[in-house]
Amino acid sequence: MQYITFFFLIITLLVITGVIYSLWRLLFKKNHAPFIPIPHDAIPSLVEHADINKGDVVYDLGCGDARILKILAKKYSDAQFIGIEKALFPYIIAKISSLRFPNITIRRKNFFKIPIANATVVITYLFPSVMDLLLPKFEKELHNTKLLSFDFPFSKKEYETMYVIKERQGKLGSKIFIYRFE
Ligand SMILES: C[S@@+](CC[C@H](N)C(=O)[O-])C[C@H]1O[C@@H](n2cnc3c(N)ncnc32)[C@H](O)[C@@H]1O
Repeated sequence: MQYITFFFLIITLLVITGVIYSLWRLLFKKNHAPFIPIPHDAIPSLVEHADINKGDVVYDLGCGDARILKILAKKYSDAQFIGIEKALFPYIIAKISSLRFPNITIRRKNFFKIPIANATVVITYLFPSVMDLLLPKFEKELHNTKLLSFDFPFSKKEYETMYVIKERQGKLGSKIFIYRFE
């Protein structure tokens, strides 16, 4: 009986620590975007506007469970898809669930620290502060690259186009901002 009580005490402490840690990162770390997956019904609009071609190299920075990549990879079998994910839990889901797609690679990395110069298309669903912190990296490394950002624009770069997903107004994943890096 004592062992069971001890076990539950440890689990409770771990959960509380996890919640406090996540809140701390969310509130105080400007370069952090939490794992909030894009709702499935928002993805078809992105697929429509991504305009992916044969040979494209598509990155999802902070790919979460790779839900966007799996839909794109199924439709565009002759393009290459790379998901970058830092957090262990979504990384494991992304890695396992995309095993059946030969054109998806999932890497457990910090997207601030990896080269992305080979990208022809970049997809993001992050946070406003993270977008702004990434802009210098994008301006340095991306050439002839299209970037599609769900919901969050850069504060210091004009978008080329913005699509509002009418059925999703007021919900997560209701806008797609499109940028071009020359
Ligand atoms: C809002 S979620 C979006 C997940 C996925 N792209 C989607 O649309 O469902 C943001 C993801 O970015 C990841 N992330 C945040 N900062 C990161 C970093 N510096 N490097 C890699 N991944 C990061 C988080 O762990 C989280 O899974």
